[in-house]
This record gives sequence, C-alpha cells and structure tokens, in this order.
Amino acid sequence: MYDLVIRSARIVTPDGVVMGDLAVNKEKIAAIGQGLGPGEHEVDATGRIVFPGIIDAHVHFNLPVKNIMSADDVESGTRSAAFGGVTTVIDFTQQNRGESLKTAFERRVKTIDSKSYVDVALHSNITSISDAIIAEIPELVKLGTPSFKVFTAYRDAGMHLNDPELLRVADAVGRANGLLMVHAENGDAADFITERCDRAGQTKPTQHGVSRPDLLEAEAIYRIATLANIADCPLYVVHVSSDRGMQVIRNFRNEGWTIHAETCPHYLLLDESSYEGEEGTYFITTPPLRTREDCTRLTAAVAEGEIQVVATDHCPFTRKQMDEVGGKFNKALNGLPGVETLFPLMFSHLVALADGGLTPRSNASLILLARVLAENPAKLFGLAPAKGALREGADADFIVFDPNPIRHVNAMDLHGNADWNPYAGSEVRGELRTVYLRGQRIIENGQLYGKPGIGQFVPGKMTADS
Ligand code: URP
Ligand code: ZN
Ligand code: ZN
Repeated sequence: MYDLVIRSARIVTPDGVVMGDLAVNKEKIAAIGQGLGPGEHEVDATGRIVFPGIIDAHVHFNLPVKNIMSADDVESGTRSAAFGGVTTVIDFTQQNRGESLKTAFERRVKTIDSKSYVDVALHSNITSISDAIIAEIPELVKLGTPSFKVFTAYRDAGMHLNDPELLRVADAVGRANGLLMVHAENGDAADFITERCDRAGQTKPTQHGVSRPDLLEAEAIYRIATLANIADCPLYVVHVSSDRGMQVIRNFRNEGWTIHAETCPHYLLLDESSYEGEEGTYFITTPPLRTREDCTRLTAAVAEGEIQVVATDHCPFTRKQMDEVGGKFNKALNGLPGVETLFPLMFSHLVALADGGLTPRSNASLILLARVLAENPAKLFGLAPAKGALREGADADFIVFDPNPIRHVNAMDLHGNADWNPYAGSEVRGELRTVYLRGQRIIENGQLYGKPGIGQFVPGKMTADS
C-alpha cells in the first residue's frame, strides 16, 4: 500500500511523458507507471499534468537595495513560491564587507528555520575577499553552498570585485569543484553613463536602458568568461538579458568552455517599452529590459537548449517603497517580483502558446520546460538526484496542473508582499491544483495547507552529474 497515488495523469519525467500513475511513500516518489496501487490516499488526475516541483534558482528575500529592504522575507517569499508551484528556491547569503563567508552562511541558514513554506538552498555571495575568505571556499562547498556569486557591477553598494579579485575567486572555486556565478555588466561604465545622464537632467525611466546597454553585458561576460577559463572554473551567468550577451556565451561554448546561462521571464516577455508607461520606474531591474527582438532571440535560445535555466531574480518592492524614492531611473529600487508567476508564465509562453495549445507534440515542450525550471538547476547546484525530476527515489516534490483554464495575472491574487506586478493583466494558461513538498500537500485549489517551517534548508552537493 502506497501512502499516496496520483492516477491517470500526464507525468513529465526526464525520459519522457508517461500517461499513468505516480506513487509516493514517506517523502519519496516510490513508483511511476501504469496501474499502480493501491494507495492510502488516491487522487484522480485525469486530464491533468504532473510536473516536477519548480526550482527557482535565483531569488532575493530581504535584499537591501539602496538601503531599502526588498518586500519579501523568507516567510512571504516562500509562501508566494508555494502558490506558484515552486518547491525549492535558491537564495543568496549576504556577506558584509570583510566578513567570513561561513558567518554569512550561518546567519542566512538561521532565517530559513521555522519560517519557510518550501525548501531553500543557498548560493554564497562573495562581495569582498582576503586570504582568509578565499581559504574558506572549500569549507563552504562542504557546508552545502557549492555555487559562489560575484558581481562586476554595483561598486557603490560595495559588491563589485575587480579582475585580480575575480581571478582569485575563480581559481579557488574551480579548485573546490564549485561553480562560479556572475552578475555580468561593466558596472563602472554603467555608473559613468548614469552620472552623465544625471548631469544632463535625463532621468526618465527610459534612460535605464541607455545607462546599461547590452554592450556592457557582453563585455563583462567576455571578460569574466576569460578569467574563469584561465582559472579553469565552470561559469554560470545569471540573468542574461540580451542577445548580444548570449552570443558571447554561445561563442565560448562552441570553443568547448564550460559556461552556463540563466535568463528570467522578464527578459523573455517584457521589453524596453515598459519604461515608457506611467509606472515606468516600477519596471526597473538590472540588467534592463531590452528590445522585443532580444525577447524573441532569448526565447529561441531557451527552446534550443542554449539557456540552461529560467529563474526569476525575484526582488519585489511595494508601490509605497517605489513611490518614496521617486521617479528618477538612477534612484529607483531595481528588482521585480517573479517567483509565483514563474511556472504559469513559462508554461504559457514555452508550451501552450508556442505549440498553439496543448497538443500531443507538446510533450517535447513540457520536457524542455521541466529541464529549465527544475532538472537543470537541480543538477547545476548540486540538488539532484533528490530534487529536479520525477523519478523513483527522488523527493516527492511535484505539482498537479490543469492546463485548460485561462486566467489573467492580478497582483492582488498573489501571495507575496508586493502589491504591484509587472505581468498584471497578462493572460496565462492553466491553473495549479495541488502542490506537494516531499509528499506533503502544501497547496490545494488556492488554499495553503503547508505551515511555516515545513520547508528545510537543502544543502547542495556537487556530483559527477552537476
Ligand atoms: O535589479 C535587480 N536585478 N535586483 C536584484 C539584484 C540583482 O542584481 O540580481
Ligand atoms: Zn544581478
Ligand atoms: Zn539577482
């Protein structure tokens, strides 16, 4: 007798889409196949899709931006994640200047305990180095953060590392079998253009893109990829926003370099015209939204498997917070909400709309979607095989999804702390029916069943598959 059997669904596994049943015992997937059973609890999922629990590999809870805390903390951010079918989020440690990476890690882990509605993993942010900090990197890998994030921008916020520092980090991360993650923009050039705009009184939100052109992203990717290659360290470029940046990645990859790419829903769906509207400043995120052509080309890069991960860079602010800093692009609080709309938007964009409805040939799109939203991030950040795919022995993290309803995004229907959403009014296909975290129902038909603390810190552990 299984604990739970989900019956007669379209189950998205890494090896194909199975029409059949999924059985759960304790916290794990016990079997996937036809005619399984019986189960202590049985759910008829005819006409529904069973999809792996989503992993949002890039979220910021309580991130100070220009000294203002982003609106979601671990509790509200993971609640919002749960409602969106995201069963694991990967947040970042926050290293104070000169602080030990281990101290920053331990402080962050404490915020997860007893607060979280979904599982949480961590990347280590490195914003300043010393011999002692570099020497800690192997220990951080052992503690469960095998991925290390650096910035080539945000000098004013004390986050920027220069080339010699980047080389030292890359060298240490490579030796420790870790993964180097980079926010790649030439921040000094962006600061220079920003000041020039400010002096000229050009401070409308449309100037955000002018101050951070795609060339700055492409240049920074070229430079950090070169440094990572010299240091023999695998590289993951977060929030790739432009075709120009993607071309650099493609060229290096064609030469055999290990370089992974992440993009975000906003770079696939929204373009620079958002900055022209009345709420233009609210759309400010870094890197900026680009042209419609960039959206199209990045979408093609996802479809071709050139972009490994779609994650959200979730970093929301409330209207009040955004209004208080005013409408100038260089004072705006950069960051967008995203975690709760990740799956619905991407199902609509990459499956339902791309295929003109859910057809038998949509199985390939469903597998692609599962790859970029679950399987690839799990592998890259050392969460596989427990997370990221529906297979026997894996954690029973999955969603039961009805692909038929048509809805529209409404900020007030979402469950984070933001009262504004960049996708408000957008049509989305399908509706989540149930979300399971390690076999426990946390969401059903819009009701929250999980309790804060049901989520756990999940350490990443690099394997040969990572
Ligand atoms: O503007 C953004 N993306 N804010 C969050 C911090 C970052 O750069 O990822
Ligand atoms: Zn960033
Ligand atoms: Zn970010």
